[in-house]
Formats: sequence, structure tokens, C-alpha cells
Amino acid sequence: MIVCVCHRVSDREIARHAKLGLGFDDIQFELGVATQCGQCESCARDIVDQCCKSQPVAAIRIAEGSHHV
Ligand code: FES
Repeated sequence: MIVCVCHRVSDREIARHAKLGLGFDDIQFELGVATQCGQCESCARDIVDQCCKSQPVAAIRIAEGSHHV
């Protein structure tokens, strides 16, 4: 799915960069996402947020589980 129509950036492309540890600003700089009309910005931020949070949340759940067992 194309998130940023202006720069033809897909959600997969954003997710790939987010998983490498890049923040929104870095991805914006790398891919040019949300630098033209800005309509894609909230969607692009959501994708970055989801990718950044998925790993720490999983780690917290594993830590909590081991405490209660
Ligand atoms: S759709 Fe991304 S800047 Fe226009």
C-alpha cells in the first residue's frame, strides 16, 4: 500500500526503516515521506509507532510472565 502518494513511499518501506531503528524524522529525511503535501504524515507516524513499540511491548510481556510463574 502506498502511504505517501507524493513520493510513492509504501507502508512496507516505512516499516522496514522503522525496524532498523530509525525515527520518524530520519525516515522522513531518507524517504521524503510527508515532505510535500503532508497528508500522509499521521499515517506514516502510526506505522513508525507500531514498529517501534512492538518489540519493547513483547519484551515487557515476557518479563512479566516470568515474574508471575
Ligand atoms: S502524500 Fe506524502 S507528502 Fe503528500
